[in-house]
Amino acid sequence: MTTLGIVGAGHIGSTVARLAVDAGVDVVIANSRGPETLADLVADLGPRARAATAAEAARAGDLVVLTVPLKALGDLPVTAFEGRVVLDTGNYYPQRDGQIAELDDGSSTSSELIARTLAGARVVKVFNNIFFEHLGVLARPQAAAGSQDRSALAIAGDDAEAKAAATALLDTIGYDVVDAGPLREGRRFQPGTPAYGLPYDGSSDGTWSGDTARRASAEELRAAVAAAE
Ligand SMILES: NC(=O)c1ccc[n+]([C@@H]2O[C@H](COP(=O)([O-])OP(=O)(O)OC[C@H]3O[C@@H](n4cnc5c(N)ncnc54)[C@H](OP(=O)(O)O)[C@@H]3O)[C@@H](O)[C@H]2O)c1
Repeated sequence: MTTLGIVGAGHIGSTVARLAVDAGVDVVIANSRGPETLADLVADLGPRARAATAAEAARAGDLVVLTVPLKALGDLPVTAFEGRVVLDTGNYYPQRDGQIAELDDGSSTSSELIARTLAGARVVKVFNNIFFEHLGVLARPQAAAGSQDRSALAIAGDDAEAKAAATALLDTIGYDVVDAGPLREGRRFQPGTPAYGLPYDGSSDGTWSGDTARRASAEELRAAVAAAE
C-alpha cells in the first residue's frame, strides 16, 4: 500500500497519519476547514504527507480512514468514497452527536449507519476502542506479528477483502488484529463494552494518558470482545 487517505485530522486522524508516515506510507489528510489550515500538521509529518480537501483525501488511496464526529456524517462528500475501503474510527456519543433513535434502541450501530450513508464503500470498524495517545505509543511496527511486544486492535466488517486490507495496514503500523466478525459485531467494542479503552490502559484511576499505556495482547482483546453483552 502506498497512499492512505485520512478524512479528519484531529486526535485520531493525526495519530494515524504519524504512524503511517513513520511506517513509510504516504498520507493525504483533510479536515473540515480546508488544506491551508493543516500546513503545520503536514510540515510536522514530513514529505510523505500532504493536505487536501475531504473529497481529494477520500479519492487519494484505496484505503481511507474516516475519523470525524458522527454528527459530521451529513457533511461528507459521499460520492468520493465510492469503491473505497473506509476505516471507520467513530463512536456514537449522543451528547456530542445528538440522539439517533436507531442507535439508542440498538437496532443499528454507528458503523452500519456510516456504511448505509457511504453506499458503494466497504466499511471496516477499527481504531474506535483505543485512546489516541495509547494508539500512538503502543504501535510496534518493527515487531513481528503475534510477538510479545505487540498490542492488538479489533476490527469488524462485512467484506473479507476490505478486512484483509485493514489488517495489512495495522500490521504495517505495528498492531495485531482481532476480527470480531461482521460490521454489526462492531457493537462488541463500542463504548460501554469491556474492549472499549480499558485493555490498553494501565492506570489505576482511569486517567488516560500516553503514560498509562499497557500492551493488550490479541488473546486479551479477544476475550474482552467475547465478553460483551
Ligand atoms: N479521541 C480519541 O482518543 C478517540 C479514540 C477512538 C475513537 N475516537 C472517535 O473517532 C472520531 C474522531 O475523534 P477525534 O477525537 O479524532 O476527533 P477530533 O479531535 O475532534 O477531530 C475531528 C476531526 O474531524 C474533522 N471534521 C469534522 N467534520 C468534517 C468534515 N465534514 N469533513 C472533513 N473533516 C471533518 C475536524 O476538522 P475541523 O477541525 O476542521 O472541524 C477534525 O479534524 C470520533 O467519532 C471519536 O469518537 C476518538
